[in-house]
Amino acid sequence: MNARLVYLTILAGLTATIFGQTPTRDVFGGSSCMGCHGQSAMGGLGPPLAKTKLSIEEFQKIVRSGKGMMPAIKENDLSPGDLQEVYTEVSNKPWLEDQIPIAYKVGRFLSPTSVSHIFMVAFLFCGIFAVRGITYWLRCAGFKQLLPSLAKLGWAKAIGIALKSLIVDGFLVGSLWKNNKKRWVMHGLLIYGFCGLLLADILIAIFNPQRGQLPLTDPLKLLPIVSGFAVALGVCYVMYRYKKDEYIDNGLTLGKDFLFVNLLFHVAISGFLVVTLKRLGINDWVMTIYLYHLASVFLLIVTGPFTRFQHMYVVPIMVAVTRLTEAVTATGVELGFQREPSPGRHHKSARIAEDVLKQVGLEGKVVMRYYP
Ligand code: HEC
Repeated sequence: MNARLVYLTILAGLTATIFGQTPTRDVFGGSSCMGCHGQSAMGGLGPPLAKTKLSIEEFQKIVRSGKGMMPAIKENDLSPGDLQEVYTEVSNKPWLEDQIPIAYKVGRFLSPTSVSHIFMVAFLFCGIFAVRGITYWLRCAGFKQLLPSLAKLGWAKAIGIALKSLIVDGFLVGSLWKNNKKRWVMHGLLIYGFCGLLLADILIAIFNPQRGQLPLTDPLKLLPIVSGFAVALGVCYVMYRYKKDEYIDNGLTLGKDFLFVNLLFHVAISGFLVVTLKRLGINDWVMTIYLYHLASVFLLIVTGPFTRFQHMYVVPIMVAVTRLTEAVTATGVELGFQREPSPGRHHKSARIAEDVLKQVGLEGKVVMRYYP
């Protein structure tokens, strides 16, 4: 190499250093991206961006609309020019295998797909024990003994009566509507709020599987927010009633009742926090609170069949059995109970009965069986 070429090469290098973009501007280094994608863009909570294989269009789309746990980053936080620059910077960053942090492995583990797999397993677990619980209560209600009478009544009619009861007595809580509209509303906040959250999760899995960020006015966003509010309000009301009602502690289920109510409360609160923090751009905390949210939902589901959560499916089914027995008696196909062959379904019954027994001097002389 002759001296002149060496000189030119050095000059070119210097010019690039002084006027080139890379050393003078480090947009990535000063951006919020770094917090989640790592100082050297080799990943943090989010995947490595170094040597990204995404096209600029794909890159922009992900940044502007968010993806999974990544919040959408709007133009006031990162101008289009800076976004372009970030893309160029990360594309040129070297791939440093040994810098991939453990946090990224956790983050990857929590991708929408694996989270939905974890929850599928949780639901399966819950389903198995729920079916086990339901069969137990059906046995207590003498459902097997009822079956021959239902055959006489006609299966189509029996199924019609059961379905109607599940909708009117169960889903619409008809008896509470008749007796106490205010309590119906408060009770409704819990059931319909809970159903809304469940429905939202299913709809999001179908229509927004990557969980990209949506505007607050989008129905897919509104549904879980409104439902979450309803649940939180309903839970507060239940807590209030627990404070007021001296019979609420039957000495048997208070702990399990509280576990359910508490978990539901944590699910709602953590859900709101995640949405709020994402909106406010407080991204450092999003992942932690999201983990707290996932853990609450997970615990709510897997403890469900053993807590007051059972109330939601055991009571409607038991009332449907009652309606079937009533129909059997009323249509005269069989003599039988006119009412309540199913277990008493009031969780306070045991305490009230004990008090009555005390008053009539029979305390301890009568053995009582408790039904939740
Ligand atoms: C709160 C943490 C967080 C912040 C802040 C953040 N990201 Fe992300 N990012 C993630 C996570 C988590 C993923 C993985 C999403 C998924 O695949 O579910 C991701 C994914 C991406 C992807 C897709 C990568 C791929 O290979 O699929 C790109 C591109 C990206 N982020 C760019 C950026 C840019 C640019 C910024 C800054 C303007 C930024 N991110 C800020 C957490 C974040």
